[in-house]
Amino acid sequence: MAEEPVNVNEYQELARQALPKMYYDFYAGGAEDQYTLKENVEAFRRITFRPRVLIDVSKISLSTTILGYNVSAPIMIAPTAMHKLAHPEGEVATARAAAACNVIMILSYMSMCTVEEVASSCDAIRFFQIYVYKRRDITAQLVQRAERSGYKAIVLTVDVPRLGKREADIKNRMIAPQLKNFEGLLSTQVVSDEGSNVKAFADSTFDASLTWKDVGWLRSITKLPILVKGVLTHEDAIKAVEAGAAGIVVSNHGARQLDYSPATISVLEEVVHAVKGKVPVFVDGGVRRGTDVFKALALGAQAVLIGRPVVYGLAAKGETGVRRVAEMLKDELELTMALSGCPTIRDITRGHVITDRERL
Ligand code: FNR
Repeated sequence: MAEEPVNVNEYQELARQALPKMYYDFYAGGAEDQYTLKENVEAFRRITFRPRVLIDVSKISLSTTILGYNVSAPIMIAPTAMHKLAHPEGEVATARAAAACNVIMILSYMSMCTVEEVASSCDAIRFFQIYVYKRRDITAQLVQRAERSGYKAIVLTVDVPRLGKREADIKNRMIAPQLKNFEGLLSTQVVSDEGSNVKAFADSTFDASLTWKDVGWLRSITKLPILVKGVLTHEDAIKAVEAGAAGIVVSNHGARQLDYSPATISVLEEVVHAVKGKVPVFVDGGVRRGTDVFKALALGAQAVLIGRPVVYGLAAKGETGVRRVAEMLKDELELTMALSGCPTIRDITRGHVITDRERL
């Protein structure tokens, strides 16, 4: 029997063994040269610590609040598409793991379990991620169903006017078998056999004419707070706040959209400074260690989102795998806090890290 993984990176190999190549590549891949895919991880490695000593770290607390909700750690499950390709229980297994760990799950608009199925499966705190279809009525219906089913926030992903060029998917002729059953598609006319190619589907259904004005439209159809996911510049951070966002997710979509976008951790501070504490800032992309979570918090994030490691855990061991991924990151974060003199999340400051810019 294979050994138990000792860090979340080791779940990637288990997922590779568990999945058909086409699906593994879909989860693992990035856009074009995959420069940003590598950079998302590498940029964390260039940040080092300024640990403090002789501070009472006999008790460590990771607990924090996100949009007012008490959670066990500043870690959320990022929205990732199509969990049934990874495991037959799909997003329900992921949600149960989130509930068991008391972390927030963000359900993808491209999920294969319905918003109601996920809601009734467990009491996880859930946010719902959306894209905006050209058919606004369908998006509005989904938002309203999520609101009725107790989702606590809407995460508007803004970095997909069109799907990025993911070359592994092109080579594999990646087809999503259940695309026709997607929630948002039940009443559309856009699904053809050809439409089950993910890129063709997204490019024909997502509204590429979306602008900041449409955040106002979204606010008019829901009372839920709206997080804008996919911001990488101070200019857009300010626009998001002006548009009424309740939070910002610094994200390059796990390097699946515009290659040569900067590593997210390298632009986090730019966004944090622009936002001036008006709304919380979150970050995702390349978070693979508890030390990475700590670094993101030190640079001003309120929490991080985890994408691929969750999917790998799900592919390898279902709900248990997702739980283990979240627990390992929490354990590593706890150890990092102990070793750097931070008994609580609030104790983590900018002074605890050195970025490569400061070293030059
Ligand atoms: C994603 N991501 C994503 N984002 C989103 O807003 N809606 C979605 O449906 C998806 N789908 C999706 C599928 C897969 C397979 C991946 C890997 C990613 C992006 C995701 O939310 C997040 O931004 C990144 O995954 C974070 O980077 P890491 O943790 O995967 O490095």
